Amino acid sequence: MGHEVGNKLIRWGQRGRDVPPSGTLLPTMSRLATTLCGVSLRNPLIAAAGTAGYGPEIAEVIAASRFGAITTKSITRESRVGNTPWRVTDLPGGMLNAIGLANVGLDRFLRKTLPELEDLDTVMIGSIAGHTIEDYVEVATAFGDPVAAVLKLVELNVSCPNTASGQQFGDDPRLLADVVSACRAALGSKPMLVKLSPGAANLPELALAAVRAGADGLTISNTVPAMAIDPETRRSKIGRASGGLSGPAIHPVAVKILHEIHARLGEAQCQVPLVGLGGVLSWADAAEFTLVGATGIGLGTALFIDPRAPRKIERGLDAWVGRQGATNIAELIGAFEA
Ligand SMILES: Cc1cc2nc3c(=O)[nH]c(=O)nc-3n(C[C@H](O)[C@H](O)[C@H](O)COP(=O)(O)O)c2cc1C
Repeated sequence: MGHEVGNKLIRWGQRGRDVPPSGTLLPTMSRLATTLCGVSLRNPLIAAAGTAGYGPEIAEVIAASRFGAITTKSITRESRVGNTPWRVTDLPGGMLNAIGLANVGLDRFLRKTLPELEDLDTVMIGSIAGHTIEDYVEVATAFGDPVAAVLKLVELNVSCPNTASGQQFGDDPRLLADVVSACRAALGSKPMLVKLSPGAANLPELALAAVRAGADGLTISNTVPAMAIDPETRRSKIGRASGGLSGPAIHPVAVKILHEIHARLGEAQCQVPLVGLGGVLSWADAAEFTLVGATGIGLGTALFIDPRAPRKIERGLDAWVGRQGATNIAELIGAFEA
């Protein structure tokens, strides 16, 4: 049991199971119940795209209901085998990956994977990636169709290089607005998060461009562009010269970015819900994101370290909300005092 992330098969199953017998009701910590873009979540914890398989994989080792939501791997129009190995390497502050969006492609996802998501007792978020606007729109149209009703929210991963310009959609406000508005139209009424890339310049303005183009919420953020070199071989530790850094090393960076975006959206009176994502390993990391304005809290690398981390984080977060004298975590969103 596990899921393939390149050179490593992450064997979650070896750590033992945490899945209650079917029909068992897990206690709900109502102080943590929240709403993201109009969708009710049991708690703010969201399994990040690409770190929980398509959803069923992580549900083999931790009850899906431990998460407020689970995000699928990013789905592209065509299936993708991904980059040449090695695709993942451990680093002292986290992990470096260059998976290259390996996924089964839209057709197989709709036929084989989507029906399996119906069994998961949580909110499912469908992640979309592509290289052209047409790629994104084709997947968005399918995800907006009633057939994909199990996907209550959609997330656009705009960190892929646009083949025509060589630039990432997430780097340029004009390209970003084009892809966001095209997907907004294709999705109908389904709420859409846009996931920003932390390597881009002027993120608060990009965030504003995404919201003005129709994003209902923002996920902040994707991995940080990074390199790791083996000095003996003089080669990259992964199959490409650079990849994306995730884990604790990027947490303070993501907190600052989210804080600045929250402030800018407030100033422009364009506030939308934000999902804080990057290096959350503990309830305190999650609380930091809440304080700077996050409604949802993403967990990525934490799930590779310990897939059952959400249990501890949920408990710790609930206790913190109580100690702060709040009746619901929503009262603490943006409560950071500079
Ligand atoms: C192995 C791996 C695969 C990932 N795949 C995707 C993906 O398919 N789509 C996407 O939007 N982000 C992907 N990400 C980025 C994560 O969703 C998340 O933004 C990033 O890891 C930062 O969060 P973390 O520090 O909690 O891991 C991936 C990250 C890792 C480590």
